[in-house]
Amino acid sequence: MIKCSLEIGEARVEDIKGVIDVEVKSFKYPYTPMTFITLLNLFPNYFLVSKYCGKVVGYVTAALDKDGYGHIMSIAVDPEFRGMGIGKALIRAVESRLRRDGVKGVRLEVAVSNSIAIKLYEGLGYKLVRVLRNYYPDGEDAYLMIKDLNY
Ligand SMILES: CC(C)(COP(=O)(O)OP(=O)(O)OC[C@H]1O[C@@H](n2cnc3c(N)ncnc32)[C@H](O)[C@@H]1OP(=O)(O)O)[C@@H](O)C(=O)NCCC(=O)NCCS
Repeated sequence: MIKCSLEIGEARVEDIKGVIDVEVKSFKYPYTPMTFITLLNLFPNYFLVSKYCGKVVGYVTAALDKDGYGHIMSIAVDPEFRGMGIGKALIRAVESRLRRDGVKGVRLEVAVSNSIAIKLYEGLGYKLVRVLRNYYPDGEDAYLMIKDLNY
C-alpha cells in the first residue's frame, strides 16, 4: 500500500493549476490564474503549497507591502482536507519565513461572515484592528487583522 505524507514547500509554476482547483472550490470570487502567477513571480518565497501524494491540497500566498509589513493575500485548503491542521501549518510556515526575513508584522483581510477563518487567525494571535466597509464585490465588509511577528 502506498502511503503519502503531507508536505509543505514553495509553489512552482506547475503547481498553479492545482492551486486554482483548490481556489475555485473555496471562494465565491476566486483569484485569476494571472493573479497567482504575478504573486509567484513577485514573492516566490511566500507562496507555499501543501501537497498530498503530489496533489496540491492547500496553499498560502503572502506579499510584502510598501511599509515592509507582510500581507497574507489568500489561503485555502481543499474541502476534503480541511480540519486536519493544514491551514494552520501553512500560516505558520509563511509567518516563519517572514520573521526570518526581518518582517515585523503581518496583516490580512477576512470576510466578516467567515467565522472559520476568523477562528483560525485568532487562534494564531491575529487581532482585529478595523472593519473595512464594502470590501468585497457583493458589498460584504471585511475585518482587517494584524499580528506582530516581533517575539
Ligand atoms: C480557513 C481554512 C483555510 C482553514 O483551513 P483548515 O486546514 O481546515 O484549518 P485547520 O485544520 O488548520 O484548523 C485551524 C483552526 O481553524 C479553525 N477551524 C477549522 N475548521 C473549523 C470548523 N469547521 N469550525 C470552526 N473552526 C474551525 C479552528 O480554530 C482550528 O484550530 P483548532 O484545530 O486548534 O481548533 C479553510 O476552511 C478554507 O480553505 N476555507 C475556504 C477559504 C477561506 O475562507 N480562506 C480564508 C480567506 S480569508
